[in-house]
Amino acid sequence: MTCAIDINHVFFRYADFKMEDINLKLHVGEQKAIVGLNGSGKTTLFKLLLGLLEPDSGEISVFEKKLTKDNLWEIRQDVGFLFQNPDDQLFAPTVWDDVSFGPRNLGLSEEEVTERVEWALDRVGMSSFVNRPVNQMSHGQAKRVALAGIISMRPSILVLDEPFTGLDFKMVTKMIEIIQRLRQDGVTILFTTHNSFFIENWSDSVAVIQDGKIVFDGPTHEAVRTKVVIDNVGDWGQLRQQIKSYKTTSLE
Ligand SMILES: Nc1ncnc2c1ncn2[C@@H]1O[C@H](COP(=O)(O)OP(=O)(O)OP(=O)(O)O)[C@@H](O)[C@H]1O
Ligand SMILES: [Mg+2]
Repeated sequence: MTCAIDINHVFFRYADFKMEDINLKLHVGEQKAIVGLNGSGKTTLFKLLLGLLEPDSGEISVFEKKLTKDNLWEIRQDVGFLFQNPDDQLFAPTVWDDVSFGPRNLGLSEEEVTERVEWALDRVGMSSFVNRPVNQMSHGQAKRVALAGIISMRPSILVLDEPFTGLDFKMVTKMIEIIQRLRQDGVTILFTTHNSFFIENWSDSVAVIQDGKIVFDGPTHEAVRTKVVIDNVGDWGQLRQQIKSYKTTSLE
């Protein structure tokens, strides 16, 4: 089976944090959730995968092509990365400039660029914002524009860092619809979430990262029964009971 992503014995160190011996494989079309507490290394892992950070050792391959300084630009065109914070993603003055940047860099004609931008903004329900400055949008609107920028490139891999955080229910539904259509075309997806709903219902497999190490990697049906996964996602049923007990106490 072809490997879309292959992370092989990757080590990386910030001053006070290290990623140790990271190994992760995604086959073409797989949808994997990355789970871990705040500060466990999820975004760092994504930055390594995108070549935004360079491993101290180890190798990362995308479609069996090893990531190097020379092919970074080429590989990034095939990997759409939705940042955790859309403010880190949007950089051009207007929505149009931002969404058209990627397709223009693919060397498409102006006509094709226009077609892709209009299609992508329509998909995320942001067509009426086309001439708006990117710094005058709400968090959810900015996230939708950031997603438009990614899908306008028609990537084969989507790397989504907490894609649903801050989105209203209608947009979550829409985003799942958009991604579902991409999945039908065989797109591979790696995403992070803190929400057990998406782990249980929207992933084929789950990897848990804890203090910069992968401590679980397996199919979702196995993950949902595994203690280390439950510990990292949190026991929401138990929290419900705890809150109920507060209410009872405060009424007494
Ligand atoms: N630029 C940086 N320089 C130094 N340390 C950093 C830098 N960015 C992140 N870190 C540290 O690396 C660790 C992992 O951070 P990372 O952003 O990968 O966590 P995360 O799992 O994505 O957390 P969250 O769930 O909060 O998004 C944290 O301890 C963080 O303080
Ligand atoms: Mg993060």
